[in-house]
Amino acid sequence: MKQTLTRSKGLQGTIQVPGDKSISHRALMIASLAEGTSEIHGFLEAADPLSTRQCLKTLGIEFDMNDNALRVHGRGLRGLRAPTRELDAGNSGTTLRLLAGILAGQTFVSRLVGDASLSQRPMKRVIEPLARMGARIESTERATAPLTIHGIFPLKAIHYEMPISSAQVKSAVLLAGLFAEGDTSVVETITTRDHTERMLGLERREQNGRMVITTRGGMTIEPRAFSIPGDLSSAAFLIVAATIVPGSDLLLKNIGLNPTRSRCIELLRSIGADIREERVEVFSGEPQGDLRVRSAALRGDLVLDGKKSAEVIDEIPILAIASLFSQGSFRLTGAGDLRNKESDRISAMVKNLRALGCEVEEYADGFAFQGKKDVIGAEIDSFGDHRIAMAFGVAGLAAEGKMTIHGAECVAISFPGFWELLLQLQRS
Ligand code: S3P
Repeated sequence: MKQTLTRSKGLQGTIQVPGDKSISHRALMIASLAEGTSEIHGFLEAADPLSTRQCLKTLGIEFDMNDNALRVHGRGLRGLRAPTRELDAGNSGTTLRLLAGILAGQTFVSRLVGDASLSQRPMKRVIEPLARMGARIESTERATAPLTIHGIFPLKAIHYEMPISSAQVKSAVLLAGLFAEGDTSVVETITTRDHTERMLGLERREQNGRMVITTRGGMTIEPRAFSIPGDLSSAAFLIVAATIVPGSDLLLKNIGLNPTRSRCIELLRSIGADIREERVEVFSGEPQGDLRVRSAALRGDLVLDGKKSAEVIDEIPILAIASLFSQGSFRLTGAGDLRNKESDRISAMVKNLRALGCEVEEYADGFAFQGKKDVIGAEIDSFGDHRIAMAFGVAGLAAEGKMTIHGAECVAISFPGFWELLLQLQRS
């Protein structure tokens, strides 16, 4: 499907952004391992979390709806059933990597598969620690999916120093730790999103500037009510749209403001964005609040090195678009893992920015360019990546002429209804 966008006269309205993707995946998995029925309010009904739900269903978990809440009938740590068919993670790295952690501690064999994009993404990062814990995992020669997981119970507890910064790997090891004998700990130098730790109430301590997180093997998980905030990584597209389209004023309700996710707000403010937080409260252990965004002239440079880029790993495409419309420059380095996302995001950004007439320098681990005065719409390829499609869709609202996004349907991965929402918010 292609989507065409033209210059907007301003975006206005009050919006509830769809639920947080990372938290939705984790709520499903942790509720499935709980001793009884949990309720999830604000679950993200998008392709990625639905892949997780389908996999858990194949593992014997039952779900139903009650008053707009998704009920998950947890069966306890030892309650998953051997699947009678493959577990299909679709496009979702979080589904595949986190489930691999849980499946490593089962006494049955399971096979995890993914779509063409996911089947290209590196899995050694989870295979290696899970194998150290005792699971046997078969993959392709390139250490990609399909993964056949020969689980074992109990697993061996390990102390794992993270070789890369990845919340998916950290969570896979911590979840596997539930099925280990003793305490499993993970050490991270750069703090990545901490939803798994918060949800399981895990012990965290700082040691020599690094964070050590520990799971107790065999701990009981109580069922509960989860309240999922709006996804800040999805809201970021609307925040930048309202910032760069003159005459905009948006109120985004109940957005997740977990400090491991909210660095993008600070970075946007540092180049002049007008983003105000209102009514911040903590629900289900996660801070959330309303964000009011008004258009603003952007100036100043965005310089993202390894640490900073890890903190905004999902927002890099839209931060680059903010810079494109600023009087300043964008420079990203130390972000080689961006080539391993739903697309090679460095290459996808560079190609599409060049299509907009921008002179971009490409590095193995990043890219750099100067903001432009007049951006003229062009033909854009989403490369099947939801965040690339949405980032350039937003650019289309501030560019001259017509922006056409090819492969625009992929927004359904994290933000169903995104294109319709952009239309609804147009000031007439
Ligand atoms: C996610 C972690 C990040 C992020 C992804 C979701 C998660 O991946 O890019 O969209 O829910 O844990 P990495 O941990 O591989 O960086």
